[in-house]
Amino acid sequence: MENNIILPRHVAVIMDGNGRWAKKRGLPRTFGHKVGTENVRKIVKYCSKKGIQYLTVYAFSTENFKRPEEEVGTLMKLLVEYFNKETEELRQNGVRLNVIGDISAFSPIVQKAINDGIKKTKDCKDLVFTIALAYGARAELVRAVKMICNDNVKDITEETISKYLYTFDMPDPDLIIRTSGEQRLSNYLLYQAAYSEFYFTDCLWPDFDEREFDKALEEYSKRNRRFGGV
Ligand code: IPE
Ligand code: IPE
Ligand code: MG
Repeated sequence: MENNIILPRHVAVIMDGNGRWAKKRGLPRTFGHKVGTENVRKIVKYCSKKGIQYLTVYAFSTENFKRPEEEVGTLMKLLVEYFNKETEELRQNGVRLNVIGDISAFSPIVQKAINDGIKKTKDCKDLVFTIALAYGARAELVRAVKMICNDNVKDITEETISKYLYTFDMPDPDLIIRTSGEQRLSNYLLYQAAYSEFYFTDCLWPDFDEREFDKALEEYSKRNRRFGGV
């Protein structure tokens, strides 16, 4: 790929298709999640290398609590493992870990692993890697409205709402990628996605490698973003 393409500053990904990836191979869905987690590792590294400033991935939605207990349990276990194993390397690579969502719904062990990772990488400046966990955009908006009311804000603007979202300290996503062929947002970053470019691919998340990521970046660089102008 050419080096001089326009890079998105913030890439948000809906990592979908782990279950189908496993099913295709006659394996349990949870195996798909394991391989999917390994892929996260790879894509974070690649974003660092490319100089992307913000990567935000959808790992667990508020609606995903509806899944069978065993699957939710495996996802939690993988999450703890990820934070415990990866934090040090992320720190060395200048990656700041960040979480959006209501993790108070998670067990104390899971919350501790997440909070430790955030704390240990808080001074990193190269890539902000945000994981959406127990995240739902509607719940995020309800939370924002409640806080705005509690704070008695008089002059409410679009910026006020942005400042009360979990994403208050990051730019809106320039590019939203969804894997696995589904073409919907599934309650992801509804307010922030107002002017995002969308990239949908049939590729399942565990197969979404550096080459697939480059395809998305290349497609993005060809888009003409008008933001309502001419
Ligand atoms: C995405 O893969 C990961 C999570 C939602 C946690 P899925 O588990 O949704 O995989 P499919 O969509 O069933 O294939
Ligand atoms: C969206 O995927 C959530 C994550 C990737 C974490 P889902 O698989 O849960 O979404 P739906 O159910 O297909 O809309
Ligand atoms: Mg899915």
